[in-house]
Amino acid sequence: MKNVLIIGATGQIGSELTMKLREHCSGDVVAGFIKGAEPTGVLLESGPSAEVDITNAQQIADAVEKYHVDTIYNLAALLSAVAEGKPQLAWKIGVGGLYNVLEVSREKGCAVFTPSSIGSFGASTPHDRTPQDTIQRPTTMYGVTKVTGELLSDYYARRFGVDTRSVRFPGLISYTTLPGGGTTDYAVEIYYAAVKGETFKCPIKAGTYMDMMYMPDALRAAIEIMEADPTKFIHRNSFNIASMSFDPEKIYESIRLQVPDFKMEYEVDPLRQAIADSWPNSLDDTCARIEWGWLPAYGLDEMTSDMLYNLRKKLNIPEPAEALNQ
Ligand code: SER
Repeated sequence: MKNVLIIGATGQIGSELTMKLREHCSGDVVAGFIKGAEPTGVLLESGPSAEVDITNAQQIADAVEKYHVDTIYNLAALLSAVAEGKPQLAWKIGVGGLYNVLEVSREKGCAVFTPSSIGSFGASTPHDRTPQDTIQRPTTMYGVTKVTGELLSDYYARRFGVDTRSVRFPGLISYTTLPGGGTTDYAVEIYYAAVKGETFKCPIKAGTYMDMMYMPDALRAAIEIMEADPTKFIHRNSFNIASMSFDPEKIYESIRLQVPDFKMEYEVDPLRQAIADSWPNSLDDTCARIEWGWLPAYGLDEMTSDMLYNLRKKLNIPEPAEALNQ
């Protein structure tokens, strides 16, 4: 991995992965963006950027050519709740866009990372310690695009030798860029409410467990899988990865250990709840551990400390101890 193109570089994962890869790679890491989501600040200043709309194959090919790209991170997607409102667009980006990326990669010899998700599973999947190879019959358009993406990526690897690799991300939690309309977003929003001193209105019912992951672990997974020795791979698209599973009560408790007067009430969103109910409670990530050495670093309480600290810094909210001294 030398010269990298990130498609969706200004999104929740892309904005952080671009910066991390710029420290990590010896070549150019190109921030691919769409009109209306241009990079700004350090993301713009620290390396090249190019307009790359995933639905436009020519734009992908032009950026690959210009920067001699050998690896593409395909991070363009509509998240689960938004995709239910715009299923046609979700397909166009998730599947049509991936097809464009794979075709360009077949012609130019690029490796491709395209995340799949816990959303690739459905109600008929075993919900606890969901195995690597199991039933995948999702009922959301997001899930349909993710399963299709897994199959198409494996097809291109087998048929054309394109080096496609992928992980099934849990809900991702980060303080840099907000996610856009997912079912797991509540687990990010709850931290914003906690540092701002607001009562959090939780859209997901108590007792609804989903796999979640702190962004530093997710970035490491995305890099490590692309650098792994492929001779050990039995799977490619896509590996279960996991680090923690919790329900709203558990994350609330974790925050209350550090913000004792934090309040949460339930205002359940039926769409997000139905999606969450169809997803696994927790994934079994044994294959990723064996085939490329995956190992998470963050648990719930370490993530909570780091999120609260960094969000207060970002939003200029004093630490509770500092506030007492003022
Ligand atoms: N975070 C995603 C969503 O909620 C799941 O991969 O849509």
